[in-house]
Amino acid sequence: MKFARVKPLDAILATAKKKSLHPTLGAFQLTLFGIGCVIGTGIFVLTSAGAQKAGPGLMLAFAIAGLICIVAALCYAEIAAMIPVAGSAYTYTYSVMGEMLAWTVGWALVLEYAVAASAVSVGWSGYFTGTILNEFFGIVLPPYLTAGPVALGGAPGGMINLPAVVIALLVTWLLMIGTNESAKVNAVLVLIKVTALTAFIVLTLPATEMDNFNPFLPAGIFGGFGSGVGAVGAAATIFFAYVGFDAVSTAAEETKNPQRNVPIGLIGSLGICTIFYILVAAGAVGSIGGQPIMGPNGVPFPAGSEELARQCALPEYAEMLVCSNEALAHVLRMIGFSGVGNMLGIAAFIALPSVILILLFGQTRIFFVMARDGLLPEGLSKIHPKWKTPYVVTAITGAIVAFAAAFLPVGQLADIANAGTLYAFMMVAIAVMMLRKTDPDRKRVFRTPALWLVGPATIAGCIFLFLNLPFEAMIVLPAWAAIGLVIYFLYGYKSSHLGKGIIEVPDEDILNPHG
Ligand code: ALA
Repeated sequence: MKFARVKPLDAILATAKKKSLHPTLGAFQLTLFGIGCVIGTGIFVLTSAGAQKAGPGLMLAFAIAGLICIVAALCYAEIAAMIPVAGSAYTYTYSVMGEMLAWTVGWALVLEYAVAASAVSVGWSGYFTGTILNEFFGIVLPPYLTAGPVALGGAPGGMINLPAVVIALLVTWLLMIGTNESAKVNAVLVLIKVTALTAFIVLTLPATEMDNFNPFLPAGIFGGFGSGVGAVGAAATIFFAYVGFDAVSTAAEETKNPQRNVPIGLIGSLGICTIFYILVAAGAVGSIGGQPIMGPNGVPFPAGSEELARQCALPEYAEMLVCSNEALAHVLRMIGFSGVGNMLGIAAFIALPSVILILLFGQTRIFFVMARDGLLPEGLSKIHPKWKTPYVVTAITGAIVAFAAAFLPVGQLADIANAGTLYAFMMVAIAVMMLRKTDPDRKRVFRTPALWLVGPATIAGCIFLFLNLPFEAMIVLPAWAAIGLVIYFLYGYKSSHLGKGIIEVPDEDILNPHG
């Protein structure tokens, strides 16, 4: 399991010492921070895709995905509190399993962060075009400017998702000039999101009709390997709604009494989100119905597919939950609360860019650390003299994110992001267990409770969700890993600083996500 080049943990820890951030965060701030990173496109937009996969079973899907994230979060917490440096899963793997596997994790994290940022950009585009342009200004953009091409699974007539490109580039620019979301801004955005979701629940639950929950599992629990449908197929997709909680672990070094507060922050934010998500799903499906549109073989059409887009263009289906690009606002409009629906649309419009910012920030810092380790060209880690940001890597990442957002539908982007994230979470669980064996005496500010149950449960949960992704998303991970390994052996293996015997102790402040 362990490969030759392992970065000594003490060298990595020296990094953290040098930074010596003053611990200021308490359990409450940490929970708020977690909720700020987590609530986004997953609940505001992917609710449609989830309903298309599972119907009312979407509620079960949120519970399954939430549970797997909670065990994964407990593993993350131990290693994050012990090795509180930037680069998260990549750094942890480097110290425990060696360079090559660390490279694969860093490479997979591109899927977690960059592709997820693309997905959130596309989600934002749905609310921007639907609520802001259409509802408020009466402007209807032509389909060729609001979705990717049909051949890739977009809406009929789609070519490029222009608003998604613009928001991705705008956020990239903000990051390049050194914008950081302050705790205060985060708290306001969390309040906006939580208020929007609370209003949604309060208005939709009384409008619920029991008939709408029947059949509860129209596509079954297991839709079959690679089909991406059924309750667990939906769980594999809406797992995306929980992605981002690892940011809480990276804040461990700034946390007062991390042994108590990090797990409260992680489990608190995930627990609160899980409850919200299940209630939102119940309100959405219960009030306007959320049955999937079935194909001729009795299996739901794939979410984001050309066939589904064609069905949704038919007048009898156009108003269905599974056809909406702004699921939650649509539900409220359908039950007679257009004004509140528009407010919710504005909430998404305001709050989603901060999720893009957090994801893009995470991505640039991972690339930055990899470049500094010599695994990517060093030019990437250049810092701008005035802005003090790694502007080269930020610009390149932003361009990639904008490109993917331009052409791919949100559900497929989310599935691909999930594939990478699940791999990274699994590796983190393995790393935590290995470190307990190889380095049992090292001080752990937080110990995962019942690790020998929680660790294997995380690994099993990640593999389980991965196997329930649609086949096209599943195949991206090995294909992406293969490309990554070719690059590693052609470039990283030779230019790796560790390979050359250089062990660095970096001290740049820019690695601090909250500085
Ligand atoms: N969990 C984040 C979202 O749903 C990535 O947008």
